[in-house]
Amino acid sequence: MRVSVKLKDLHYKYPDKYEALKGIDLNICEGESIGIVGSNGAGKSTLLLHLTGLLFPTKGSVEINGKIVNNKNLAEIRKEIGYTFQQPQDQLFTTSVYEDIAFGLKNYKIESVKVEQMVMDTLRRVGIEDLKDKAPYRLSGGQQNLAAIATAISMNPSILIMDEPTSALDPKARRRIINLLNNFNYTKIIATHDLDVVLDTCKRTIVLKNGNIAADGLTKDILLDKNLMEMCDLELPLSCQSRSLLTY
Ligand SMILES: Nc1ncnc2c1ncn2[C@@H]1O[C@H](COP(=O)(O)OP(=O)(O)O)[C@@H](O)[C@H]1O
Ligand SMILES: [Mg+2]
Repeated sequence: MRVSVKLKDLHYKYPDKYEALKGIDLNICEGESIGIVGSNGAGKSTLLLHLTGLLFPTKGSVEINGKIVNNKNLAEIRKEIGYTFQQPQDQLFTTSVYEDIAFGLKNYKIESVKVEQMVMDTLRRVGIEDLKDKAPYRLSGGQQNLAAIATAISMNPSILIMDEPTSALDPKARRRIINLLNNFNYTKIIATHDLDVVLDTCKRTIVLKNGNIAADGLTKDILLDKNLMEMCDLELPLSCQSRSLLTY
């Protein structure tokens, strides 16, 4: 099976010398669905920023589909990746949701009739046709999240990477995104502390703690391991907590 993502001894130190990643070794194969979980500050976003070349390792390396991520092949690598930021407003920058989705497609010189088809199809898949002409900065947080997800999937990427995609979504939108993820058959990597989303969409889970991998295995084994979750400052997914705990 082809390796989509290969991290070798990945270290990253922010300019203030804080070491956010401390030697991550990780292989993700084509078609895998991976949840990256961990408490606030564990290093999830820092790790994802390396997969798109928004940060480069201070030590170690990152490979996407067999290519080392560096300035030389960044444009090529980004064609294969759909990415949503933790803050959706960071990736919505034109005057309408339609234009934001069309932007990437036009950038890759897809003809305009096809662009329109692809944008409309993406809006339908994400369920936000009614937001088409809205200015992104006027949207609610959850709507911005959906628009950002639309920009990420519009190019039909081979690797989908999402940073906290559901944090601001209402239950209906959240369910739609879970279904969409489950129908996406390529590699997907989802960083979140919404453990229930991971349980619903990812076969494999990696737990980050203080910039290291604390555990890597089948989602159902990892997320239901109460001791491990507590050790990593997490809790069992809500859907697995007992009724008595919920009504406590
Ligand atoms: N720009 C930055 N400068 C310095 N430290 C940072 C910066 N961004 C994040 N960090 C630190 O790096 C660690 C990991 O952050 P992050 O990857 O955002 O964690 P997570 O996404 O798991 O919440 C945190 O301790 C955070 O404070
Ligand atoms: Mg984060």
